[in-house]
Amino acid sequence: MREGFVIRVLRAGSAVPAGVGFVVGERHVLTCAHVVNTALGRAQRDQEAPGADVRVQVDFSLLGDPEGAPLRSCRVAMWVPPPVLGVSGGDVAGLVLVGEGLPAGAGPARLAEVMDVRGAEVDLFGYPGEPPRRDGAWARCQLGGVVSGGMIQLDADSEAAFRAQPGYSGAPAVVADGVGDAVVGMLAVASRDEDVRDAYAISVARLVDAWPEVLESVPACPYRGLLSFRAEDAEAGLFVGREEEARRLRRMVDERALVVVVGPSGVGKSSLVNAGLLPALRGTGEWAAATFRPGETPFFALARALYDLEGPDHGLSTEVVDRRAEQVRGEGLAGLAGKLSVLIGRRILLHADQFEEMLTICPAGERAEFLDRVLPAANVDDVPYRLVCTLRADFLRPLLEHADVGGRLQDRLLPLSPMGVATLERAVSEPAWVRGVRYDDGLARQIAIDAAGGGGGLPLMEFALTELWARQRQRRLTFADYHSLGGVAGALDRYAEGIFAELAERGLEDQVRRVMLALVRSREGAAQATRRIVGQDRLARDWPVVEELARRRLLMIDD
Ligand SMILES: Nc1ncnc2c1ncn2[C@@H]1O[C@H](COP(=O)(O)OP(=O)(O)O)[C@@H](O)[C@H]1O
Ligand SMILES: [Mg+2]
Repeated sequence: MREGFVIRVLRAGSAVPAGVGFVVGERHVLTCAHVVNTALGRAQRDQEAPGADVRVQVDFSLLGDPEGAPLRSCRVAMWVPPPVLGVSGGDVAGLVLVGEGLPAGAGPARLAEVMDVRGAEVDLFGYPGEPPRRDGAWARCQLGGVVSGGMIQLDADSEAAFRAQPGYSGAPAVVADGVGDAVVGMLAVASRDEDVRDAYAISVARLVDAWPEVLESVPACPYRGLLSFRAEDAEAGLFVGREEEARRLRRMVDERALVVVVGPSGVGKSSLVNAGLLPALRGTGEWAAATFRPGETPFFALARALYDLEGPDHGLSTEVVDRRAEQVRGEGLAGLAGKLSVLIGRRILLHADQFEEMLTICPAGERAEFLDRVLPAANVDDVPYRLVCTLRADFLRPLLEHADVGGRLQDRLLPLSPMGVATLERAVSEPAWVRGVRYDDGLARQIAIDAAGGGGGLPLMEFALTELWARQRQRRLTFADYHSLGGVAGALDRYAEGIFAELAERGLEDQVRRVMLALVRSREGAAQATRRIVGQDRLARDWPVVEELARRRLLMIDD
């Protein structure tokens, strides 16, 4: 957090601070140009960039290292001179560590475009006094809004400690948001002029302009495109909007041996279990969990998941897994899971994802037997394992056609519907904020409205967001870019059309057509066309096209 990115710039040959700075990359530090001038004993407004052989000393005084603050030597890699006159303009220096890298506990700050939150509290660390004292202090002020030239006004109480204090120059303006500390600017001048009551920070956009090679890199995309969310996404604060459903699921898992999450295709069933449930269970230390997809051989898939419970894959042979599959077939899941639970000393959760495969690709005989041996018996919830299935709602009816299934599903269904606009808006904006990126005012809401209204829902929304992410500039996502990629409804269309046109130009049109037709099966008329899983052998002659489509994320290849 903040202690890890605030640094102190030292005056040459002494331990007296010249100002402050902050870490922005693996070896990169930002401060004010006039702070560097002070550190080097030059005139404050010296315009000339220091030479490549000049060294500036910085230390990490907030790391609380008992050995003393770790000291590092830097060269000046970027220079925007201080204003010749007046208080604002320029005044940015980029330092690069020479020799040793960042000390333990230090790391780059998360930069965030300032949100329009007038009055939000901003913290600044600096060294009060003139000459500055060695022990610093945090000072608090309020965000006053952006004024001309990309400067952010900071409103301070008249008593504010940092005003008129050169030892605060270069300080990161730190806001604490829901995710942690973010830097919204760099304090440029704490004016010594008694009449200038306010302090100004240089905005992130200006800092990025000054050092684009280092600061403009697009942060890792927080959206998942067409893929479902995983436990690690939830742990990074990127899985947003299903808090209530996750709580409900958690409660049901406590009480029921079986929970079937039912909902339309793409509503977020798999994500809810993987990102909304599994991390919470793992956190308790009481549970072992594994996921499987039934596929054509559900007993085999389940048997492998049972081995996964015991630890990471240890290269099991097919024979070993087969033997366990036969055990499940023989004695049922309940008995086996009970023994396993005792063996590993934890409760067991098995997640059968895409349970509809039981009704599509699993042969009928196998299906009846699996449902009988594996679905927990009606009204028996006092067992040491849990089975959580995700099931497309349109397959609930065919599932109910099997003897006894209705009783076993009694009180064990968790129906899942799409999120409403307000929740979708959070699912759009919060992951970006985690990465320090902001939307044009009103854009997150517009995207939520488009996703809620247009059909296609979450997958198309996540796809559009992923495309939009790549187009950001200066950590900002704009209406112009959103419209140019065709909005939620158009983004995937345009993307797919573009790839099709390109493949057609290369003379591959017929191959693409064959692959696509092989992947669609229509049930109950064309309107009910469903995704389909097809073996590699059926597509063999078109395989290069399959691989190309998979590389461009339009198909998935599973091993
Ligand atoms: N909470 C969420 N916020 C934003 N996007 C989500 C959320 N949950 C799921 N998605 C997205 O929706 C799509 C479908 O998710 P998935 O979990 O695979 O749904 P299902 O299993 O119901 O088909 C994916 O693109 C995924 O990234
Ligand atoms: Mg799914």
